Amino acid sequence: EEIEVLYEVDSTNEFLKKNYKSFHDGAVVVAIKQTAGKGRMGRSWISPEGGLWYSVLFKPKIHLTPHIYTKIFSIAIIEVLKKIKVKAYIKWPNDIYYNGKKLCGILPEAVSINDRPVAIVVGIGINVNNDIPDEIKDIAISLKDIVKKKLKITYLLDEINKHAWNLLVSYRNETENITKLWKKYLVPKEGDKLKIKHEGEIFEGTILKITDEVLYVDIGGKVVGVQSIHQIVE
Ligand code: BTN
Repeated sequence: EEIEVLYEVDSTNEFLKKNYKSFHDGAVVVAIKQTAGKGRMGRSWISPEGGLWYSVLFKPKIHLTPHIYTKIFSIAIIEVLKKIKVKAYIKWPNDIYYNGKKLCGILPEAVSINDRPVAIVVGIGINVNNDIPDEIKDIAISLKDIVKKKLKITYLLDEINKHAWNLLVSYRNETENITKLWKKYLVPKEGDKLKIKHEGEIFEGTILKITDEVLYVDIGGKVVGVQSIHQIVE
């Protein structure tokens, strides 16, 4: 297994995207800290020492959508956290939460040449032993504050990667089964009731179906597609 540890880098995702040719399928790049960590939707990701910030390179023979990697790592992370008695869940569409606060984020990116995907870089950020800045304390949390002690980062890294790799191999062509497992850890769930904002109004409804991109909500005879968590009121 190939693991490269960098003391400081802008972003492990950027680093692997730039250097993907020098690494083989499954290579892992970890940073002690990132100076320009990236989150989804153009946001930045605060990455001081103490957290687990890394990216994995995939050079698959059969191209899979980046979503599959997000699901696989989400499942792997949740199942590894379960071993250390931390009950995390996937908050739709793709964050890992603990008790209403974000614990971990996943950012998959494709490397394309002439519009053809040649590699996928999956970036994973987990708040482990790092302090959460005061401004985001009510929306984010670190593992150390859940288990009330510092954790071994290399243990988490190895366990998560081993588990993700096993899931990837055993489910290679059975993406429906990955989706099933993903739904098991997902909040909210199909059948749950919730309030949504739709065309400027608030509706109460029941979730009929959940996909990576859309929550289909029955608001009394009419089905509405919810595409953003900002439309969920409660
Ligand atoms: C999110 O917005 O939830 C995704 C956050 C992903 C952060 C990780 S940290 C390692 C890798 N390098 C980056 O720049 N981002 C990802």
